[in-house]
Amino acid sequence: MTAKTICVLGGTGFVGHQLVSQLTRAGYYVVAPSRNRERHRSLQVLPKVDVIDADIHDEETLNALFVGCHAVINLTAILNENKRGEFQQVHVELIEKIINACKNAGVSRLLHMSALNADADKGSSQYLRSKGEGEALALAAEGLDVTSFRPSVIFGEDDSFFNKLANLLLNLPVLPLTCPESRMAPIYVSDVAEVIVKALNDRTTFGQSYELCGPKSYSLKELADYTNQLTGLKRTIIPLGNGMSAMMGRIMGMMPFKPFSYDNYLSLQTPAVCSDAFPSQLGVTPISVEIIVPKYIGHADIRGRYHAIRERAARDKDQPA
Ligand SMILES: NC(=O)c1ccc[n+]([C@@H]2O[C@H](COP(=O)([O-])OP(=O)(O)OC[C@H]3O[C@@H](n4cnc5c(N)ncnc54)[C@H](OP(=O)(O)O)[C@@H]3O)[C@@H](O)[C@H]2O)c1
Repeated sequence: MTAKTICVLGGTGFVGHQLVSQLTRAGYYVVAPSRNRERHRSLQVLPKVDVIDADIHDEETLNALFVGCHAVINLTAILNENKRGEFQQVHVELIEKIINACKNAGVSRLLHMSALNADADKGSSQYLRSKGEGEALALAAEGLDVTSFRPSVIFGEDDSFFNKLANLLLNLPVLPLTCPESRMAPIYVSDVAEVIVKALNDRTTFGQSYELCGPKSYSLKELADYTNQLTGLKRTIIPLGNGMSAMMGRIMGMMPFKPFSYDNYLSLQTPAVCSDAFPSQLGVTPISVEIIVPKYIGHADIRGRYHAIRERAARDKDQPA
């Protein structure tokens, strides 16, 4: 029997890497379009994965990419705009194109990654409002079986959350912490990917939207303290008040790499904790921060990395090929 092909948009990103490898282990072929495939050599070495250069904003390209696919998974997103209108382009207009291309190519299954608190009207930031608008479009698409996922912060070895905190602690003698009281319930990237793979052919998930949170919620200050403890750096962390946090967002948002932005500040005004229970019917029990994060934070030395790699390899060996 020929393996089914899944097109994963945004498959080259942090969640994408994990999802693509779980999909191949589940027996699928994966096509992962990218703006620059050369930046993603680690994905290209995976068997049954085709990373290709493609402009996914071009409708003809999307149509051609989706022909013959069993399903499309959309993980594409940006956290900050580099130019005005980019949130709309990536989070909304692209979804319209994906829906049309699915219909043109005869693909009826679409899985879409949204975010916790995404809401077209009530989202506290542009990021959350545009993500909400895109999610609503996807769920309303006629003739498609759509499932959307709304995760809190996602963590894992290559995350930009704990790694960013650890880097800041490493490079700054004193860390001024924006939005220290913001709450979140981090979820492990492998659990997110597993939920998506399990939902792929599960008809009970069609038309549903699932909030995805880890087992415990924390304030940002608690997570920064925890990272400080794991790194062993014992830096001083200074929690900033609301006004200072907003100002830091405005200042850092002007930097080319935008380590933090005013829109990020606005997103953090809404607690990223789930109101719904974890979708345990999909057979995934989310693992805690305390079990995973010490394997990659505070182990920057080669022995620690080796330990994490070996554990992952052992886990992979237990998965069906
Ligand atoms: N990470 C989290 O903590 C978190 C939390 C909640 C929700 N989410 C959601 O989960 C999904 C995946 O997140 P992630 O952390 O894996 O993101 P990521 O690492 O930033 O990856 C995003 C992907 O989107 C593609 N992309 C970005 N901008 C694009 C553009 N303008 N045009 C075309 N492609 C573009 C990139 O592909 P190329 O560069 O190869 O083209 C990249 O592979 C997103 O929908 C995000 O909103 C993530």
